[in-house]
Amino acid sequence: MCGIIGYVGHQEASAVIVEGLRRLEYRGYDSAGVAILNGGIHLRRAVGKLINLADSLAALPLNGSVGVGHTRWATHGRPTEPNAHPHVVGRIAVVHNGIIENHHQLRARLVADGHVFSSETDTEIFSHLINAGVSKGLSLEDAVCAATKDVSGAYAIAVLDVDHPECVVVAKQQSPLILGVGAGETFCASDIPAILMHTRDVIFMEDGDMAILTRDGYELRRFETGIKVERAVTRIEWSAVAAEKDGYEHFMLKEIHEQPRAITDTIRGRISMADGDVYSEGMEITREDLANLRRIVIIACGTSWHAALIGKQYIEEATRIPVEVDLASEFRYRNPIVDSRTLVIAVSQSGETADTLAALKESQRRGARAAAVVNVIGSSIARAAGNVLYTHAGPEIGVASTKAFTTQMAALYLIAVRFGRILGTLNADQGRALLTDLLAVPGDVARAIELSGAARDIAKTYVGATSALYLGRGLLHPIALEGALKLKEISYIHAEGYAAGEMKHGPIALVDEFTPTIIAAPRGPTYEKTCSNLQEVAARGGAVIAIGDEDDDELRSMADAYLPVPRSTPWTAPFVSVIPMQLLAYHLADLKGTDIDQPRNLAKSVTVE
Ligand code: AGP
Repeated sequence: MCGIIGYVGHQEASAVIVEGLRRLEYRGYDSAGVAILNGGIHLRRAVGKLINLADSLAALPLNGSVGVGHTRWATHGRPTEPNAHPHVVGRIAVVHNGIIENHHQLRARLVADGHVFSSETDTEIFSHLINAGVSKGLSLEDAVCAATKDVSGAYAIAVLDVDHPECVVVAKQQSPLILGVGAGETFCASDIPAILMHTRDVIFMEDGDMAILTRDGYELRRFETGIKVERAVTRIEWSAVAAEKDGYEHFMLKEIHEQPRAITDTIRGRISMADGDVYSEGMEITREDLANLRRIVIIACGTSWHAALIGKQYIEEATRIPVEVDLASEFRYRNPIVDSRTLVIAVSQSGETADTLAALKESQRRGARAAAVVNVIGSSIARAAGNVLYTHAGPEIGVASTKAFTTQMAALYLIAVRFGRILGTLNADQGRALLTDLLAVPGDVARAIELSGAARDIAKTYVGATSALYLGRGLLHPIALEGALKLKEISYIHAEGYAAGEMKHGPIALVDEFTPTIIAAPRGPTYEKTCSNLQEVAARGGAVIAIGDEDDDELRSMADAYLPVPRSTPWTAPFVSVIPMQLLAYHLADLKGTDIDQPRNLAKSVTVE
């Protein structure tokens, strides 16, 4: 996830752009850049937070009233200055938010045609394609359209052309892009806050739209056909603070709603349906390496540990290699048994959790092979592991992890399929079937998020509870742990997660009319057993909130409250089941009035041991 902005008007473009980027920094902050048109393209880029770019521009300003800017959350290529946007090739400068899925093939084709790349990014492909188009005599708009025909994936781009010094051309496919209309000035941006101080009149571009922006306004077209289109202008009434949260009251709620997009970004470009396999670029491992392993150990903390517990079940099922999951803070202090025949995978959103980093380094010291599933590009854990599968969830601001968790599960799902295919423990048909199921997850998660209103109604009933139990079996046991953690950390209600079958070994003594039990019971291998556990709770006077299939009337009739989720497979059930738990925790906390995005005593990144 990155942020882009473009400006054509009467103000100093670099000032408008840097201020806009400041409001987009939540989308990424490992490098930033601007390009200004003024008798040529004037480029300035800086690694690190936006302040570095702002300082550089303050010391040596760039003048001009047409320009584009970018704040980067690296996906392809490390956070370095050559990889920072804009990418200039010939007459053309491009900023891009998204992922070009066929960048390998396009890059190979362009290199074979004599193009020389100066960055590791997928974005530079756009610059080469568009520059090649205008060099052949195409108009700028036609060159942009031609480039979109070659590229598959997600993109919002803004393009400058030295030969068209009075305009910015933009195009959108699956990545967000809005236009802003001011008096004698026109804007584009990834998100509303970037332009809200200049205009409240906004056009939401649709996939397949391109636009030519000038001082006098904009012209929208479909890039497939070139046909002009009209889109409604929306007057934005949000305050600037509300706008940063996309109109949501809290970052956590915004991030819950981002999950379909985030999971799509984790999967995007990594699936080969033809082979029933996964491109795990960054996580390189050979058949020989895998066959030589005695076991895999996954280390993590908190929510990432819950994702690891799910990853264990995926990988064991797909490969039959034993997988152990350890809390990083325990692993490192107990003389762990790891050697060169152990693969240690660290799972971390921030990539900075001190215990996870230390545990990873300790296992490397003992000779283990290392790998990581990380969200933040270039973070300490990513650098230490070397072998990394990035989740591409985008920055997570709320302390309570939501999209980081579901994207970690998606990444571990991909790893399991990849390892299974490498070893041959999954054949192509089995790989294809699992990947088909995974591709349905973003849509199903989007439908589960529609339960927000129902979750709020249930929360109103239980807002006085001081304790809650969460139950699930198999892949849903870690989901019960995660549901309980979410509730604890933001609502301060005591909660425990248990494997449902463990209830009768002790925790059932806690059941009473004041302690609701939240139970994940979509149909699956242990469905009947979980239903029996539900009835054991109900028989003892406990209130039951059940999460189950939307067509399961029997389960619905057994529960005091029901949160129906789309039908899932055993491997996809954790995704749809955790969403109502996130929503329930959120609404309970909101009703209690806690500080949801920054709960007491917690920090987003725990860099102390
Ligand atoms: C969960 O909501 C918390 N934010 C916390 O448990 C978190 O998952 C844990 O601190 C690990 O962080 P990491 O994924 O950044 O390593």
